[in-house]
Amino acid sequence: MFAISNLSYIQSMSITILAIESSCDDTSVALIQDAKMIYNGVYTQKIHEAYGGVVPELASRKHEVKILPLVQQALKTAGIKKGAINAIAFTRGPGLLGSLLVGTSFAKSLALSLDIPLIEVNHMQAHILAHFIDDPKPAFPFICLTVSGGHTQIVLVNDFLDMEILGQTIDDAAGEAFDKTGKLIGLPYPAGPHIDRLAREGIPKFSFPEPRVDGLDFSFSGLKTSILYFLRKEMAVDPGFVKNNLADICASVQNRIISILMNKLIKAVDMYTIKNVAISGGVSANSGLRESLMQTAAEKDWNAFIPKFEYCTDNAGMIAITAWEKYKKQEFCSQDVSPLAHMEFERL
Ligand code: KG4
Ligand code: ZN
Repeated sequence: MFAISNLSYIQSMSITILAIESSCDDTSVALIQDAKMIYNGVYTQKIHEAYGGVVPELASRKHEVKILPLVQQALKTAGIKKGAINAIAFTRGPGLLGSLLVGTSFAKSLALSLDIPLIEVNHMQAHILAHFIDDPKPAFPFICLTVSGGHTQIVLVNDFLDMEILGQTIDDAAGEAFDKTGKLIGLPYPAGPHIDRLAREGIPKFSFPEPRVDGLDFSFSGLKTSILYFLRKEMAVDPGFVKNNLADICASVQNRIISILMNKLIKAVDMYTIKNVAISGGVSANSGLRESLMQTAAEKDWNAFIPKFEYCTDNAGMIAITAWEKYKKQEFCSQDVSPLAHMEFERL
């Protein structure tokens, strides 16, 4: 295990970290120099589009093919030599085990061969710290709604590496609600961006129930079932119902997902009386959610923070900024580390 004993040495030189993200279907490599992002490249695997969801075996095979060329491309574009890298960071979890294994093994071998420290990063923590890549940056403490394909969480963020989950989904994630609805109405995976685009042209005239879940937890599986039953009923009467009402269906589903998310976020802000509020994760790219947050913030006098589009969905830039915070604290991991499909959300 690495320990850099002379901290003033760290402070006096520029630190370059190479970060790898491979938790799901995006292979991504970033380079950060101190807190400044100098490269963030993402390869999105299109192969899953036809299957209506990520096929884990195909995802890990694609990561294997892509990871080395992406690292080479990153170093070439940024004009950085391998020998100038000070640490290698990687996503340890949560995610698909096969996909994580590719990034973890690659990071471990590169760190070993260069004889430099290795930094493990929690993907969900990284989604939140994506807010610290560019200005404006939220002040601590803040409340973050993290909405991705696999997670929906309300998190109290006390400091860079000190976070507490206040509530989370008890079944499906918000991104899954978008993607599973998309599959029902014939949209390609991931359906979130397609529903977002179509919803802009529609009217939210169909009503879906808001689940009753205690506290700050969420549930989206009931919504998925009610959409399925609604579509079955309407299609029995008019087989062209989905085709003829696509934009209105998208607007109605999106509206309900946003109201479920926003109602819990408002509840959390009221309970904790913290007015710095952020959103993160793939679904934070949704234009309706972004507008709704800005509107609520204006009404309730919140300081709202929305990440740039490129840092909403999976990217290694967010892994790199988290790694930079860990590097400053010398939070390195050993070569014995293995990936985790489920990863506790706590200080690592
Ligand atoms: O954070 P992310 O890239 O990957 C995970 O960690 O899961 O999130 C992916 C999710 C997918 O469910 C995708 O449909 C959703 O984010 N998403 C969106 C939008 N862009 C991506 N959902 C709604 N509207 C969008 N514009
Ligand atoms: Zn993610």
